[in-house]
Amino acid sequence: MVNYKDLGLVNSRNMFKKAIDGGFAIPGYNFNNMEQIQAIIRACAETDSPVILQVSKGAREYANQTLLRHMACGAVEMARKDLGSNIPIVLHLDHGDSFEICKSCIETGFSSVMIDGSAHSFEDNIALTKKVVEFAHDHDVTVEGELGVLAGIEDEVSHEKSHYTKPEEVEEFVSRTGVDSLAISIGTSHGAYKFKVKPGDPQPKLRLDILEEVKKRIPGFPIVLHGASSVLPEYVDIINQFGGKMDNAVGVPEDEIRKAAASAVCKVNIDSDGRLVMTAIIRKVFAEKPAEFDPRKYLGPARAELIKMISRKNKEVLGSAGHGAEIFAME
Ligand code: G3H
Ligand code: 13P
Ligand code: ZN
Repeated sequence: MVNYKDLGLVNSRNMFKKAIDGGFAIPGYNFNNMEQIQAIIRACAETDSPVILQVSKGAREYANQTLLRHMACGAVEMARKDLGSNIPIVLHLDHGDSFEICKSCIETGFSSVMIDGSAHSFEDNIALTKKVVEFAHDHDVTVEGELGVLAGIEDEVSHEKSHYTKPEEVEEFVSRTGVDSLAISIGTSHGAYKFKVKPGDPQPKLRLDILEEVKKRIPGFPIVLHGASSVLPEYVDIINQFGGKMDNAVGVPEDEIRKAAASAVCKVNIDSDGRLVMTAIIRKVFAEKPAEFDPRKYLGPARAELIKMISRKNKEVLGSAGHGAEIFAME
């Protein structure tokens, strides 16, 4: 058993408390490799932002679960020793789909897990989530559940249509499972093609009315927004300019994320925006310097751009910048 506290990690409880009181959101950034985790930690340290490092089931398979944990542990040390930063860092399983994967992560140093039972019936989702919560809480690990379905691919589970969260179900779900936070479906989806928008159409909107209804029913309870990348057009343009083909890629306007973060949403999940940044810069380097073959020469600039993007999100969209050390002091 590896206890996350021995790795310098924290669970998400204090972060969420502060985020709710302060009307901001904690970033949940996914990582699969060294450059991504370096960029996340550097940007969050430089902006003094609390951070949730997210590992999906696919990331565990891609990069090796043991290596990822040691990378997270190394990230804590890098933040403290090399960057002189006291930001709180959570290591979180993103979209866990079984009790076994959650248990395995808890036993190997994760401080937070998501059990995504959204593909199951309401009753089965409750039973699965409750089982994970009981095990997790015995180890002081926090748990995120999900009610409602996001369209698109959630790891191997693909849903053609989203089903908005039913506000009338949230109270019962939260009280019967004991979860610490709840992911809801209000119009976002995973990936780079979230909305069908034609030229001249108005900007896509989230169902913030559902969020308000949920908030009324479980006031002060931490709500999580998945699929929250904005699919930043400047990076989609670079990708298309340098040989890529991402037609009609559309994300959630940052203003909608700002509104959600100022309301009950206290964790915002961002993966696709980071992927776009890396792809855009790597494509540009390859096109402009075709003789280059040192990975540091294309991964390095990609990492530098990722740091910029994450810093801006923390400061201008989520409002998490400046809250790191104050939350760490609560631990
Ligand atoms: O939930 C979706 C996240 O972006 C993780 O994606 O399963 O491809 O690692 P992934
Ligand atoms: P995006 O695809 O919008 O980045 O969503 C990521 C996510 O929800 C990870 O769980
Ligand atoms: Zn997600």
